[in-house]
Amino acid sequence: MKSLDGKSLEKAFKLIDSGDIDRIEVGTTKGLQEIHAYIFSDLYDFAGMIRTVNISKGGFRFANALYLNEILVKIEQMPEDTFEQIISKYVEMNIAHPFMEGNGRTMRIWLDLILKKRLQRLVNWQFVDKTRYLQAMERSPINDLELRTLMHAHLTDQTNDREVIFKGIEQSYYYEGYEKDEE
Ligand SMILES: Nc1ncnc2c1ncn2[C@@H]1O[C@H](COP(=O)(O)OP(=O)(O)O)[C@@H](O)[C@H]1O
Ligand SMILES: [Mg+2]
Repeated sequence: MKSLDGKSLEKAFKLIDSGDIDRIEVGTTKGLQEIHAYIFSDLYDFAGMIRTVNISKGGFRFANALYLNEILVKIEQMPEDTFEQIISKYVEMNIAHPFMEGNGRTMRIWLDLILKKRLQRLVNWQFVDKTRYLQAMERSPINDLELRTLMHAHLTDQTNDREVIFKGIEQSYYYEGYEKDEE
């Protein structure tokens, strides 16, 4: 598991370093699927594919698979002009949770692409505490204030700083229980 996910982490780094990230569609379902396919193609046979079964986490049921495609069309049409709107869109996409696995890691890259395009900012994930973040995500379907406050406190304008981006991706994998392999 660890080595397999190490491979996904390497793919995520490659997505940035190769410049392929610049060809990902921003703020759309297609763009989200492109990121998922890119980082998980060696790991999951459903890489890039929208789920067709219902899933839940911590007692929360994500969007019903029957309506998922319609919901995704609505979400990608949500505005992304302000920070508040972007967080709302991210929260709705998390509620949709379109993939069987890998939603968290894919969506944090997707969120950063929107923030970069619209606000010339990124979330500096390396400084976002895991417990606080996951609690804010669990709370977000009911109230996104906690998440908004947390994300806002960690915005950075260092959008082209490779260390900021790479440490952020490592942190994103750490949230999901994956640590970087020792060299
Ligand atoms: N109870 C919950 N309610 C809403 N969102 C949640 C809940 N638990 C986890 N999440 C979100 O789902 C993500 C994990 O989804 P998952 O598909 O397992 O992605 P990954 O495989 O990348 O971990 C977390 O990072 C968090 O953002
Ligand atoms: Mg997971």
